[in-house]
Amino acid sequence: MKLTVAIIGTQWGDEGKGKIVDYLTEYADFIVRYQGGNNAGHTIFIHQKKTILHLIPSGILHSNKICIIGNGVVISPKDLFSEISKLKKSNINLENRLFISKGCSIILPYHIALDIARETKRGKNLIGTTGKGIGPVYEDRVARRSIRIADLEDESNLRDSLKELSDYYNHQLVHYYYTDSIPYKKVLQDLISFKDELLLLSSDVSNMIIQGIKLNKKIIFEGAQGSFLDIDQGMYPYVTSSNTTSGGIFAGTGIGPHYLGYVLGVVKAYSTRVGFGPFPTELFHDENDYFFKKGKEIGSTTGRRRRTGWLDIMMLKKSIIVNSITGLCLTKLDVLDELSEIKICIGYKNKINNNVVLDTPCSIKEWNRIIPIYRIVNGWKKKTLGIKKFNDLPFEAREYIRVIEDLTGIPIHVISTGPDRNDTILRMNPFNF
Ligand code: IMP
Repeated sequence: MKLTVAIIGTQWGDEGKGKIVDYLTEYADFIVRYQGGNNAGHTIFIHQKKTILHLIPSGILHSNKICIIGNGVVISPKDLFSEISKLKKSNINLENRLFISKGCSIILPYHIALDIARETKRGKNLIGTTGKGIGPVYEDRVARRSIRIADLEDESNLRDSLKELSDYYNHQLVHYYYTDSIPYKKVLQDLISFKDELLLLSSDVSNMIIQGIKLNKKIIFEGAQGSFLDIDQGMYPYVTSSNTTSGGIFAGTGIGPHYLGYVLGVVKAYSTRVGFGPFPTELFHDENDYFFKKGKEIGSTTGRRRRTGWLDIMMLKKSIIVNSITGLCLTKLDVLDELSEIKICIGYKNKINNNVVLDTPCSIKEWNRIIPIYRIVNGWKKKTLGIKKFNDLPFEAREYIRVIEDLTGIPIHVISTGPDRNDTILRMNPFNF
């Protein structure tokens, strides 16, 4: 039996983690986010009702579970409270259920303006960020000048540090990016208006989790984005600014590695990515249209069309190592239902000399130099949507699952066959592993 389960995206995010977190929340007591901010978008369907969460852990939709936001998460107070008020309007009670670390850095309007100004200046070399200020706020954190929730406790200090930041950023915005400055007084007023509510939600998250474990509480660590967007392990510089891989859990919540029992790697039955950067198995034209339409591949945070491609086992194997993955969860299997054949990328070769490339590359130059080697397997051309038992899946779908297990050496413990919470096959409950 395991007390703690991490749910991690193994690709570029949008693997369907939100649904899986929501599904497994039934077996958990605490759901904890540890990195990223409202750049994430977790879409959950319950009885056809769609909810998109950006910041609050997906477990909030279950009435009696505790949701925790760890110090590794960056908070936009305005977006946090707008999400809270939407949930309240849907009759979701948040009282004594949402706790936020005082160590979280606060996203200020300067960060958002700078994120957008930088992308505009990059021209065709843009990263394709979500424009939520994520890069700039994490920069402030690393530079030891960010405003954290704890700083709201001392208003006089807050005024001074915000003034310094405001001068620093307005100088860049006006004199380097030639955009408008943002008035310090307005930013300060807004921050002060959120102060009491934010401090009321704040808590010692590390202690809460450890005390919870001691009391045999079951805990889910909910990842945001995916492994190839990790600042250290991803396709730098086409990455986000946090550690999306399982290592981020420890620094982002204040618990040690000893406490992590099981890591569930979530992998879509094909691949998608939003934003720019290499994508070895990317599809274009009709094939791309198929996944786009059938998989409804539109970004839930920015509304951008996602790029689509075949499943890449080389990347998946890398994710398995980087995250210490125990078992996999295969999502959106039903999206493949109409295909007569399916490609799986099982290796790479150098497109200049045709030599086989044995590992995932390290630099963008190397990524751009490789092309995929495919294995083709039969499609099933039958409906899998909503199937709840493994043995009810068509033979070819079971084969597809077996091939992925063979190629990675990791069991697929959970399969998602549709967007609804109940469209799920649970072969092994991670908490019972
Ligand atoms: P940022 O996180 O807004 O700085 O964006 C950096 C990169 O990460 C861009 O390619 C974004 O499209 C991507 N990204 C950020 N959050 C998500 C997410 O939740 N899902 C998928 N891609 C994301």
